[in-house]
Amino acid sequence: MLDLRARRPALSPSILNADFSHLAQVFRQLELGGADYVHLDVMDGRFVPTISFGLPVVEAARRATSLPLDVHLMVVEPERHVSDFIAAGAAIVTVHAEACLHLYRTVQQIHAIGALAGVALNPATPVTAVEEILPFVDLVLVMTVEPGYGGQALIPATLRKVERLRRLIDEMGLPAVIEVDGGVKPSNVAAVIEAGADVVVAGSAVFPPNGSTVDALQALRHAMRRS
Ligand code: DX5
Ligand code: ZN
Repeated sequence: MLDLRARRPALSPSILNADFSHLAQVFRQLELGGADYVHLDVMDGRFVPTISFGLPVVEAARRATSLPLDVHLMVVEPERHVSDFIAAGAAIVTVHAEACLHLYRTVQQIHAIGALAGVALNPATPVTAVEEILPFVDLVLVMTVEPGYGGQALIPATLRKVERLRRLIDEMGLPAVIEVDGGVKPSNVAAVIEAGADVVVAGSAVFPPNGSTVDALQALRHAMRRS
């Protein structure tokens, strides 16, 4: 089983802003650039306004790379889909606290099939919303933008929330890692890690319109080390 604590701080690039006509090359670049995981943003057009992609892209990713797949489900009633995404190759499945009525059961369902379980929080959802589930999850994903689109600016106040979550996890002596997602770039990644993140997601920052993804990943990793 994947050990999330063994690779900290870790980089989980999101392919949301990648060129989907060359997916195999995209995964190759992520490997060359030293990504730890691949973050796959699944959006259903209901929990968030847009539809991104679903199972066929996760299956394609599984065939194209050996990097662990970090699947972020921005969908309503995620419990209906977790087993399909694990069968498609997800190593980590993260569901939103706001979208899942019976979080404990869903986390158990993910573990029973053999994947790691994450719970995600929108910017306006308080840390207390996950306090009771914390002992049972492998990862808490703190959204630092409203989910739905890549390329937005990180909301500064969400870093205070990361700090509060870090304190809570440490005080409770729990193994859950903190993932931060949204608007992360070289200029703010040190602050994100300083606030308590173990895993950082980056989408638009690692797929610059005219630049190299390998270079962008290395720049981000360099900035992470400075924290
Ligand atoms: C937002 C997604 C994020 C996002 C990352 O709904 O969950 O993973 O696309 O992209 P950037 O880094 O551009 O905010
Ligand atoms: Zn995401």
